[in-house]
Amino acid sequence: MKKYIIACGIACLTATTSLSQMTLAQDVKINEASFNAGNEVNIPENWREWVFVGSPLTPHALNDGKAPFPEYHNVYIEPTAYDHWKKTGTWAEGTQLAKELVLIYQNDNDEIGSTSEVSGRGYQQGEFAGLELTVKDSKRFTDMPGGWAYFSFGHKAQPYEKTAKAFPAESCNACHEASAQDDFVFTQFYPVLRAAKPN
Ligand code: HEC
Repeated sequence: MKKYIIACGIACLTATTSLSQMTLAQDVKINEASFNAGNEVNIPENWREWVFVGSPLTPHALNDGKAPFPEYHNVYIEPTAYDHWKKTGTWAEGTQLAKELVLIYQNDNDEIGSTSEVSGRGYQQGEFAGLELTVKDSKRFTDMPGGWAYFSFGHKAQPYEKTAKAFPAESCNACHEASAQDDFVFTQFYPVLRAAKPN
């Protein structure tokens, strides 16, 4: 073994160096969203296979029956953007986060919308009911604070719309800028992202 290590010498060192450079080069490649000629974003292909980071719930029962989004909000981050976050604690240009709305499970729901299941009384996830996306792209969206643009493919059952136009900054971006913990992203509600953030 010792002999092998000595014999390996410079050749191995060179091999290791180029390997780590390759890894670095791969790391900076972010899978970005695609846009059509009208600057509308195309619906991502496989957001349910991205990294799942959290599932806030704001039911009607706790919002005087008028929650703007009474469903679960299942939030996912595109994996290459997640890798970049893990290394740097920042959002790369091209970062995408999807938020899919999921209705509360229906099964003889009681007055606060909860159901009693084998695991106990509470809220479970039912059917998909909408999809939103945010993209950080400060070259394309020069007038959006932080370069973050916000989209919706419909607040409704599937099929979702295939493309979406960016909302004006005041509709979405402003609230995220004011209240989100990490550069427009609500990491205070995503334990997976807090745990992955380097110190
Ligand atoms: C009044 C504040 C507010 C407004 C306005 C708002 N959001 Fe959000 N958004 C939140 C909060 C809080 C979260 C954290 C998760 C949750 O509760 O859904 C969030 C999370 C998200 C996420 C998941 C990634 C992230 O940044 O945390 C997306 C995508 C998103 N919102 C899209 C939109 C879109 C599209 C609009 C405009 C149509 C919008 N938001 C408007 C408060 C807001």
